[in-house]
Amino acid sequence: MIDWKDKREFWIAGARVADPESGRLRAGSVCVQKGIITEVAWQRVTGTELPVLEADGYVLAPGFVDIHTHLREPGNEEKETIKTGTAAAVAGGYTSIVCMANTDPVIDKPSVVEFILRETERSGSCRVFVTAALTRGLEGEIINEYGFLKEAGAIALSDDGNYVTNSQVMRSALEYARFLDLPVISHCEDPFLSGGTHMNEGYSSTRLGMRGSPAAAEEIAVARDIRLSQLTGSRLHIAHISTAGSVDLVKRAKKSSIPVTAEVTPHHLTMEDTLLESYDTSLKTNPPLRGRKDIDALCAGLGDGTIDCIATDHAPHNVIDKEVEFDLAPPGMIGLETAFALLNTRLVQTGTIELIDLIRLLTSNPARVLGLPGGRIVKGEKADLALLDPEAKWVVEAGNLRSKSRNTPLVGTELTGRVEGVFLEGKWINVVP
Ligand code: DOR
Repeated sequence: MIDWKDKREFWIAGARVADPESGRLRAGSVCVQKGIITEVAWQRVTGTELPVLEADGYVLAPGFVDIHTHLREPGNEEKETIKTGTAAAVAGGYTSIVCMANTDPVIDKPSVVEFILRETERSGSCRVFVTAALTRGLEGEIINEYGFLKEAGAIALSDDGNYVTNSQVMRSALEYARFLDLPVISHCEDPFLSGGTHMNEGYSSTRLGMRGSPAAAEEIAVARDIRLSQLTGSRLHIAHISTAGSVDLVKRAKKSSIPVTAEVTPHHLTMEDTLLESYDTSLKTNPPLRGRKDIDALCAGLGDGTIDCIATDHAPHNVIDKEVEFDLAPPGMIGLETAFALLNTRLVQTGTIELIDLIRLLTSNPARVLGLPGGRIVKGEKADLALLDPEAKWVVEAGNLRSKSRNTPLVGTELTGRVEGVFLEGKWINVVP
């Protein structure tokens, strides 16, 4: 265990420093004073009077930024709370997360935004940024009072969990959001095609006799929202894209300079729909896990910059919700605590992407997508940092998860890559006990 808790002014030396902006991942030293990065040196620091924290063998990265977390508070504190969700975030190397609006009550009033920010102040372990709902009650009919929501602290708008089916409502939402400079995050899925389905439509759904959702359910929705972004000039971010067709649509939109960005989840990058033949309900997600061709297209989309970032869609559900017949289980899996290790194991160690690219997809890129601070190791920035051991092996154990929920298919799986701890504004938080 590394005990750096009480130091407020120090150098971190010996680690490989990851600067995602410049693409550098090499030996360096970082000076932190009163919560701020005051110097970055691309060699080992010598002759300093400040204490030196020796971090040989580690990678020092910016703290990760998750732009898609379901915290469940208020309303479903039996699944997750701001306290447990932010603790899970820190355990996964995240120093900033963006929470989604499908709470109870929905985040569609300034008072709910204020509650989350106040509760984060009281019990949170990392920064929380708030997404407010696009429409009242996430019902897709009446747009919310975005100006008041922004004034209360909301940084983005989304009905995530639901698609805004009425194109006129979505057009108005995009127009108002643009006026207030708020990005809109769209959950793209045509509910007329996906309603009553439990997995991807394909070979496995046929084998299992389970109703599947076709890729077209997502792609129709992505195509419409890209067209509306073009019409309104509003910033559109597409949540959890999962199909080869969606990657192609985003690629073409970017070529036409439409202001669109996209994220992909760790599970859509690493898990195939064939896994559902186990009937493990933690594999039931929305959008559903797809086939090999889609996974390959998602990886290629990360490689060529079509997909901007990786976001967890951390969606806690407890045992009572998930240990039921497959068709009754709600969609979603937790992801904050395993994202880095899973992606490091399945993408970096296999040579699909480089470690520095993974770090960029978890830090500066998501921060840029929503205009958030952080995600960089640069003089003058807040010292939000993650200390990683990319070679350490560990087994995911349900009892060690900080999240209140356990709905991950990774329990019992060995992964490579561990988060040792984070510095949040220069204050060390130990992750490995
Ligand atoms: O799998 C999912 N779970 N996808 C969503 O869009 C919503 C989320 C949830 O809130 O459980």
